[in-house]
Amino acid sequence: MTKIVNSWNDFDPLKRVIVGKADFSVIPDEEPATSEKVPVDSEMRGMWGPRPTETVEKANAALDRLAKELESRGVIVDRPTPIQWNQAMGTPDFRVPSGMTQMPPRDILLTMGNEIMASANSFRCRYFEYLAYWPLMNQYFEEDPEFKWTQAPRPRLTDKSYKHNYYDEQISLEERLERTANLDFVTTEAEPMWDAADVLRLGKDLFIQHGLTTNRKAMEWFKRYYPEHRIHAVNFPGDPYPIHIDATFVPLRPGLIINNPERRLPEEQRKIFEANDWQIVDAAQPSHSEPPPLCYSSVWLSMNCLVLDHKNVIIEASEVHQAEQMEKLGMNPIPVDFRDAYAFGGGLHCATADVYREGDCEDYFP
Ligand code: ARG
Repeated sequence: MTKIVNSWNDFDPLKRVIVGKADFSVIPDEEPATSEKVPVDSEMRGMWGPRPTETVEKANAALDRLAKELESRGVIVDRPTPIQWNQAMGTPDFRVPSGMTQMPPRDILLTMGNEIMASANSFRCRYFEYLAYWPLMNQYFEEDPEFKWTQAPRPRLTDKSYKHNYYDEQISLEERLERTANLDFVTTEAEPMWDAADVLRLGKDLFIQHGLTTNRKAMEWFKRYYPEHRIHAVNFPGDPYPIHIDATFVPLRPGLIINNPERRLPEEQRKIFEANDWQIVDAAQPSHSEPPPLCYSSVWLSMNCLVLDHKNVIIEASEVHQAEQMEKLGMNPIPVDFRDAYAFGGGLHCATADVYREGDCEDYFP
């Protein structure tokens, strides 16, 4: 019996990780709060159905490239068990015509020390996604006597969890930004809802983005569930679609974070970093002016890197500006050709979930 699960942050030496799979991915049909999350000018609007096979194969090839790179560096790579998402599913509270995917594992699984918790996602189509990781969880449970296998309280996702007619008519980008700044989101406070990718782990401190996928009640839930940790709600008012923190605010090593220059952390929320000598630097510009086809995310996946340790970081091969900045910041960028996976929900950090990193739960903000 060995210790398999341990991770308290995104930068200590990575030894074991889950890399997602694109098989059977579906573009989900509209449901409350999905169209509000898709940019108005996106070609994805009104589209749904299985993703074209060719794109699935290319995404899987990109994910396999990442897995190979990690393995060549001595990291153990685990993969989920794909589920046929192209089928109707439901609970006593709702029905959906399909699921979505087992990509971004980062959105679903939160690792806190020896615990991996499946999150309380707000998308109905992602309700059963955790099942793709259950074979792995069961394996860790059998092999690691200390592993805590947890499921956050499942939200019911009834109509009460969403504001209906949040957008009666098309609203301007300005109005969107104003609503974001006022913390007025399409999800309600009916019950705790959160995506694991909204949680930035820095040892004793959790910085959690309040946005379209994570509500305030979730912050309160975290406070009660992890009384030994400090929970900080963070916002990035420049982001019209605040979903997941990892293309916005990305730590590279203790004391250093890159921040999306279009989504700067407000002064008030910077204080704790400044008081503890952490440096927050603007991330380099993306190499692309558009995301790839059928992609939900923005070009800022450029900064969605996977940190291997305090020196080495995997970045997307075409993001030359980001690579250059990494070198300037004293990091060693390792390029992996990964853009073909972007449409399936995200970049290199999104596509993974921590299983084991060396190191303990540190207090970086004493
Ligand atoms: N909302 C981010 C952007 O478009 C993408 C975040 C993707 N992250 C993830 N864990 N799926 O800039």
